Amino acid sequence: MTLAPLNLFVAHRGRSSRQHITCRNRCGDACSRPAPNSSDNEYFGDIVAAMSRRSALRVGGVAVLAIGAGSVLAACGTGEKPAATETSISPAAAPDSPAGMRFDSVAVNTEDAVVIPDGYQQRVVIGWGDPVLPGAPVFDIAGQTGAAQRQQFGFNNDFAALLPITGRPDRFLLVVNHEYNSPQFMFPGYDPDAPTREQFDVEVAALGLSVVEVERSPQGGLRPVLGRYNRRITADTPFILDGPAAGADTVKTVADPTGRAVLGTFANCAGGVTPWGTVLSGEENFHTYFGSAEGTALPDPDKAKRYGVLAEPSEHRWETFDPRFDLGATPNEVNRFGCVIEVDPWDPASVPVKHSALGRFKHEGATVHVTDDGTVVVYTGDDERFDYMYKFVSANKIRPGDTAHNMRLLSEGTLYVATLSGQNPGSGTWIPLLHSGTDVAESLVDGFTAQDVAVFTRLAADRAGATKMDRPEDFEANPKTGKVYVALTNNDKRGTEGKPGPDGANPRNENKNGQVLEITDDHAGTTFTWDLLLVCGDPAAADTYYGGFDKSKVSPISCPDNLAFDSQGNLWISTDGNALEGNDGLFAVALDGPNRGETKQFLTVPIGAETCGPVVTDDLITVSVQHPGEGDEYSLDNPLSHWPDGGGAPARPAVVAVWRDNGNIGV
Ligand code: FEO
Ligand code: CA
Ligand code: CA
Ligand code: CA
Repeated sequence: MTLAPLNLFVAHRGRSSRQHITCRNRCGDACSRPAPNSSDNEYFGDIVAAMSRRSALRVGGVAVLAIGAGSVLAACGTGEKPAATETSISPAAAPDSPAGMRFDSVAVNTEDAVVIPDGYQQRVVIGWGDPVLPGAPVFDIAGQTGAAQRQQFGFNNDFAALLPITGRPDRFLLVVNHEYNSPQFMFPGYDPDAPTREQFDVEVAALGLSVVEVERSPQGGLRPVLGRYNRRITADTPFILDGPAAGADTVKTVADPTGRAVLGTFANCAGGVTPWGTVLSGEENFHTYFGSAEGTALPDPDKAKRYGVLAEPSEHRWETFDPRFDLGATPNEVNRFGCVIEVDPWDPASVPVKHSALGRFKHEGATVHVTDDGTVVVYTGDDERFDYMYKFVSANKIRPGDTAHNMRLLSEGTLYVATLSGQNPGSGTWIPLLHSGTDVAESLVDGFTAQDVAVFTRLAADRAGATKMDRPEDFEANPKTGKVYVALTNNDKRGTEGKPGPDGANPRNENKNGQVLEITDDHAGTTFTWDLLLVCGDPAAADTYYGGFDKSKVSPISCPDNLAFDSQGNLWISTDGNALEGNDGLFAVALDGPNRGETKQFLTVPIGAETCGPVVTDDLITVSVQHPGEGDEYSLDNPLSHWPDGGGAPARPAVVAVWRDNGNIGV
């Protein structure tokens, strides 16, 4: 396997190591544009932060660094990366690491490979172009068609769920999001200024979700089966829109005058699994698929802008092939995306649902916690710089075995947005925005109808005074303690001119490395307390904090994105855009006792890739390897990565399984 030179991946405009091409393909170049939240929503935390801008960053009750404009963090903004120090990598297998974390940490590297601990094995489960449906043609990267792609595994796999099949102990359903297309890495000779109809057809079919039956392989790991549950959901699969937005004038189109029947899902990033066996998935950067001729009049440009929707040609140019993506021709179509969707993977004929009661924004994902009395709480972050954290609390309770009833639980309840105050540790309040009922919905925000709260949730949350966070990504509740963890990936604009400065929970200017928040929530209630578990970045830097653990003994972590728990109660974190040297990875973090904050890198993904969708079981871990080899100077014709097929083959996104030779993970 080859080692790529470190200078191949110069930070994208001095931010994280996320490449500009990734930002264009996924987010419509959001990082080069102003953050869409320009509301003057100044909350208590801003005021406290302004007063204490030169005070200390308090982590673990200890002041560690004076911060302010021009702080030590400016080093991250120059593109001068801190060197990966020998002391910061590869702590030996620590016999005193907690159960579940007893493996040799993987060192920082830039290999074109998935690198795993000694004593572990790996195998690709399924990758882009592999068959999902019976009769799927053999993948032909030079001659790919939309018809073929509809039967094959989609592109840029992200969130994954692994659901046991009752009565078949060696079989599971693997449900995977396909977040975005990287056409430069999908089509030979791709011209971003003149995509073809055939390429559009492939792109529509390459997004959405895959449902694939998998079985344990005799060689280890998992392999796909052409089972009866297998299904592709694409960017034009029929959906039902439910909740308060259903039937609203702002979601009606000529093709759907009811405002209740939507075609497709895309930009599906993270997700969650419900206790009743369905899968939730967050529509995130949906705006990148809608465009128009420059200067087209939009019905409400300010509302559109708050979602990054602009009257200009889109990155993917879908508007040139189908008028529903043309903001001039079909201005309301874009208002039908940005939802949490629910899919019943056990019924391939089922019509998936878009739950507008959970609000419309750039949902990273949606994760479920159930209270002792059966109330369902769904946590969901809005992944944008200076955007918000939300939760939904169901009005009704789970009825075991009653799937029809349970699939209505996310249609009726209350949507809240978070305000945080205080320095670390601090407290917070959930502000109610919207009650959704059986036949009626009630807005709890002055000046907004219930339908407007559901469709333009970001603006309602602005009015409610929500706290501006550093890109809230995945939430995950610890099944052992009920504490809730939030990955805040980064925010290079914090503290810059005209933008909010640091506060207790978002403590750094020009935050390149992100942090992980720990919340003790009154789940169905309206109050919580919080503290910072991790302030990520170079462990040798004074502005980082690893839960109080000895920083000379941790793996460096940067840009936390997706979260998962193992059965021991250790937190697993995958990263997106590592701003330190090295590839993205998957890390385990101890939460309790003297090891709290111990952070160990379990694997790294190939160069140019992002680690997504971790599934952590006792004897097997899967991760989605997304956009391997995606770099500004590279393409399908000039690949940087050859993972997983090797040789001269271009890279393919794929799901990989990792297991131990003998025994369970990390014990
Ligand atoms: Fe798809 Fe929030 O990253
Ligand atoms: Ca991310
Ligand atoms: Ca998760
Ligand atoms: Ca991600």
